Amino acid sequence: ESRISMIIAIDGPAASGKGTLGKRLAAHYGYRHLDTGVIYRAVAKALLDQGANLTDEARAVAAAEALDPDSFSDPALKSQTVGEAASVVSALPRVRAALVAFQRQFAATLPGAVLDGRDIGTVICPDADVKIFVVADAGVRAHRRTQEALARGEAADEAQVLADILKRDERDKNRAAAPLKAADDAHLLDNSHLDIESGVRAAIDIVEAVRAGR
Ligand code: DC
Repeated sequence: ESRISMIIAIDGPAASGKGTLGKRLAAHYGYRHLDTGVIYRAVAKALLDQGANLTDEARAVAAAEALDPDSFSDPALKSQTVGEAASVVSALPRVRAALVAFQRQFAATLPGAVLDGRDIGTVICPDADVKIFVVADAGVRAHRRTQEALARGEAADEAQVLADILKRDERDKNRAAAPLKAADDAHLLDNSHLDIESGVRAAIDIVEAVRAGR
């Protein structure tokens, strides 16, 4: 069997399920997976730990340049506080610029790679073989995020989670540097009413259709 190397870009708003889809697609094709949100979360957490201002661009760039991929598995990166801080830090253009090379190097690794984030199909990998833009109703996303937080033992109020998600969507879409948006050649996947297996199936169908040249 001949193995084809591909770069698969998955973008979408907070809690749309793109991370799970990315992980599952990577496993399906035997590729590596990078959740790029974790990079911005790691930079944000470094600033929070230093007690620094989240809009201190020089400090944020220094944190981005000192990034340690071994820290990406730190469970503290998953918290709502760090996610919100990551949304603020990620709007700084020099922070984004400092993180481009790392992401592109990852994308170029054989046998292939799946990256998920906000700007993978538009800025990081504009030549990706397959681009998927995942959307889901805000109410559905808030419900899932709340359940995940409760499962981790964190307190979470669904109305508050929804308000946070809407605020984060607005910030991520309206920033000047690499805003959240679908690439012109992205395939839309509406994940609102799909369970995980159906979502994974829909994503694989998109990849296979692109490979078949359909
Ligand atoms: O996907 P996430 O919730 O882990 O992302 C956290 C924040 O990081 C998100 O609100 C915006 C930012 N981000 C980004 O600007 N670009 C990416 N490729 C990924 C995340």
